[in-house]
Amino acid sequence: MEIKRIAVVGAGAMGTGIAYQAARFGVEVNLTDVKEEYINNGISKIKGFVKDGVQRGKLDLKEAKVILDRIHKTPDLEACVKDVDLVLEAVFEDMKVKQELFKKIETFAGPDTIFATNTSSLSITEIAASTKRPAKVVGVHFFNPAYTMKLVEIVVGKTTSEETVETATKFAQKLDKTTVRCKDSAGFIVNRILGALMGEAFKILQEGLATAEDIDTAMQLGANHPVGPLTLADYVGLDIARAVAETLHRAYGDCYATPKILVGLVESGKLGMKSGEGFHKYTK
Ligand code: 3HC
Repeated sequence: MEIKRIAVVGAGAMGTGIAYQAARFGVEVNLTDVKEEYINNGISKIKGFVKDGVQRGKLDLKEAKVILDRIHKTPDLEACVKDVDLVLEAVFEDMKVKQELFKKIETFAGPDTIFATNTSSLSITEIAASTKRPAKVVGVHFFNPAYTMKLVEIVVGKTTSEETVETATKFAQKLDKTTVRCKDSAGFIVNRILGALMGEAFKILQEGLATAEDIDTAMQLGANHPVGPLTLADYVGLDIARAVAETLHRAYGDCYATPKILVGLVESGKLGMKSGEGFHKYTK
């Protein structure tokens, strides 16, 4: 099955980036979230991506209009998921929230619709178990920003069918992504490795061994990373980084224990770039 129309549920950083990338590559997109305000903010973000794309010479004005015309906002979950080939869920990292959401989506979606989750680290098999179509549930994990980062992880749950994997892989490739395949496991490939890397950076800072600036500079210039691990955590969002760290801790034990410094920042509302402060300060 070729994916021609999708529903993106969740109009945050990931959902909007994925919606933009899909529309750029010819896919019709229905976009929804729990509040109309969130959807409108999402549409404003997408307009910003399009404007930036034009300024960079990646799109002409005609293409920009076509892309925006392909994105349909709706506050109504039923209208959003009713006639689509694939639902892409990009909501907060919480198993119960995702399971309840897919249960609700299932009451409206057609029987052949694929359920894809952009979860960063949670079990695809557990999410699938909350639906009546576990063979059609798959992890399709994009990286932030979804329109720039070239990778998509295709995560295969214990019940995911080969047909679903193949359709999801072709969908990601249609969006100009390189795919890698991973069996269902906490953090998959990238976030399991990134979790260990960021965890050590958090601990070096927590132990007072180096400043945040020096930790980032060290990894940029000493390991050729495009951004340092603390800036990257701020970019991803410290609430997301904490949720991923907790999943990895539960799965792999104390070597992934969430450092106190990360918990402290999240609990004081310092969530990284989106809140103006995390390991570093940002001017909005
Ligand atoms: N529309 C179309 N194309 C765009 C665009 C837009 N709005 N904005 C950028 N692009 C294109 C650029 O034209 C360029 O294309 P090219 O390669 O064909 O020339 C490409 O995207 C990259 O853009 P830039 O070269 O301008 O990129 P920058 O130098 O600004 O770097 C960055 C941006 C690549 C995001 C860099 O800052 C970086 O690598 N940051 C780290 C990002 C990262 O690691 N993300 C992963 C986080 S982990 C995650 O998401 C997992 C989750 O589960 C937590």
